[in-house]
Amino acid sequence: MPHELPKLPYAYDALEPYIDAKTVEIHHDKHHAAYVNNLNKLLEGRPELQAKTLDQILTSLLAIPQEIRAGVTFNAGGIANHNLYWSTMSPNAGGEPTGDLADAIKESFGSFQDFKQKLTDAAVKQFGSGWGWLTVDGNKLTISSTLNHDTPLSQGKKPILIVDVWEHAYYLKYQNKRADYVTNWWNLIDWDAVTKLFMMTTK
Ligand SMILES: [Fe+2]
Repeated sequence: MPHELPKLPYAYDALEPYIDAKTVEIHHDKHHAAYVNNLNKLLEGRPELQAKTLDQILTSLLAIPQEIRAGVTFNAGGIANHNLYWSTMSPNAGGEPTGDLADAIKESFGSFQDFKQKLTDAAVKQFGSGWGWLTVDGNKLTISSTLNHDTPLSQGKKPILIVDVWEHAYYLKYQNKRADYVTNWWNLIDWDAVTKLFMMTTK
């Protein structure tokens, strides 16, 4: 089965005014779609690799033949990262998490505000194209950033929240003001979706 582009879980303009409709349309229909097409092309004629899920690919990159490993890492990461990005945002979202996730954030970072500052810094200061992450690492939460489409999945961590800081995620509306985009992204975080991912990692 070739990899498929998941449908966007909302309309292009659903994330307005924080992320504009044109950006969402191009980001999903062109960029995200291209990673899917590129990965399928790279895996052509390799049924044993085509049978793997994105998770299976990204958690054991050394199992990918060396001649296609860089391309597979980039494009499989591009698909998985965007899947997580779209599915952890929604309209009328934002605010703060509650329950076990709120407790874990407090335990790991001191307060929600400290957590927010730390993740914002990681995302804003990532050099070049990349991502900011909240992951479950063993029994604690960790914040990190990665270059290109590298994912903490490949380091054994479980991603539960992500922010895309490639220019294609914000340039039309924010131009070079990445920090303004990241600040506004906090208004879109679907904490119910993030909490579900968090609970799955603790089972
Ligand atoms: Fe992106």
